[in-house]
Amino acid sequence: MAATPYAELHMHIEGALGPELIFALAERNRMHLPYSGLADLEARYEFADLQSFLDLYFANMAVLRTAEDFADLTRDYLQRAAAAGVRHAEIFFDPQAHISRGVPLQVVLDGIFDALAASEREFGVSSGLIAAFLRDEPVHDAEEVLAELLRLRAPIIGVGLDSAEVGYPPTLFEDVFARARAEGLHVVAHAGEEGPPEYIWQALDLLGAERIDHGVRCLEDPALVQRLVDEEIPLTVCPLSNVCLRVVDSLEDHPLRTMLQAGLRVTVNSDDPAYFGGDIGANFAQLRDRLGLTEDEENLLARNSIEASFASPGRKAELLRS
Ligand code: ADE
Ligand code: ZN
Repeated sequence: MAATPYAELHMHIEGALGPELIFALAERNRMHLPYSGLADLEARYEFADLQSFLDLYFANMAVLRTAEDFADLTRDYLQRAAAAGVRHAEIFFDPQAHISRGVPLQVVLDGIFDALAASEREFGVSSGLIAAFLRDEPVHDAEEVLAELLRLRAPIIGVGLDSAEVGYPPTLFEDVFARARAEGLHVVAHAGEEGPPEYIWQALDLLGAERIDHGVRCLEDPALVQRLVDEEIPLTVCPLSNVCLRVVDSLEDHPLRTMLQAGLRVTVNSDDPAYFGGDIGANFAQLRDRLGLTEDEENLLARNSIEASFASPGRKAELLRS
């Protein structure tokens, strides 16, 4: 892990839900799991693509029922992240994935937010919460969720767009994101993970995305790379995720260095740490071993992460100084 403080900008809190916590929460909530045991569940962490991962990711969320469950999950992530050198975290959550199971949005918010506030005191990790819309669900659902988040005065800093990408272009969500921007929320979007460069253009031009989550497929379009470089748009790249979801063949083939050399404002993130072989520390360790990531590159990635965050100017300065 880089010696300098790090900001993690792309992780889904539901993706920090690991096998042991799944079993513990199932027991606490007296739920039956469709797995014969821990080994049976662990054997399923082999993915052919984004959708095969999402199937397990959404299924496992069934154990998240109470505010305490969400708080335990969030605290678990932040404790591990802090130990790996993360000093600021911007965390996605998927409101629709919980509302559709009958878990009230307020319960989700209360649990996550309690843990964020406590972790700031306990671990010194500042944080922000980003509500992500499921792009493969009806646009109307996203509109309703945004309206409910605003009605509840949810303590979110922004909105994002995630879930199955191909066939669900950003253009569908233009109006929802316009409303979010008008309400003063930050705007980010997953684009160019499995989807084509065109989706990155749309995220920038139609959604007003301030950061692109993943974005690795931008390299297929030189004009897009130039645009991202010129406008210093951060890309929240997730190397271990890209390998596990077969976006790239292996870590040795990952275009991270090409992206840095092109002048793109790249950051490294864990995406779903419980599913893809580890947290931010594991991502850096593997990049060092398998891609020969240098100390200078690590320091640049750490600085990028802080500069690309939505932390206050004062907090950014504090992190960059320490
Ligand atoms: N939700 C959780 N992880 C995701 C990913 N890598 N891409 C799209 N949606 C996600
Ligand atoms: Zn993601």
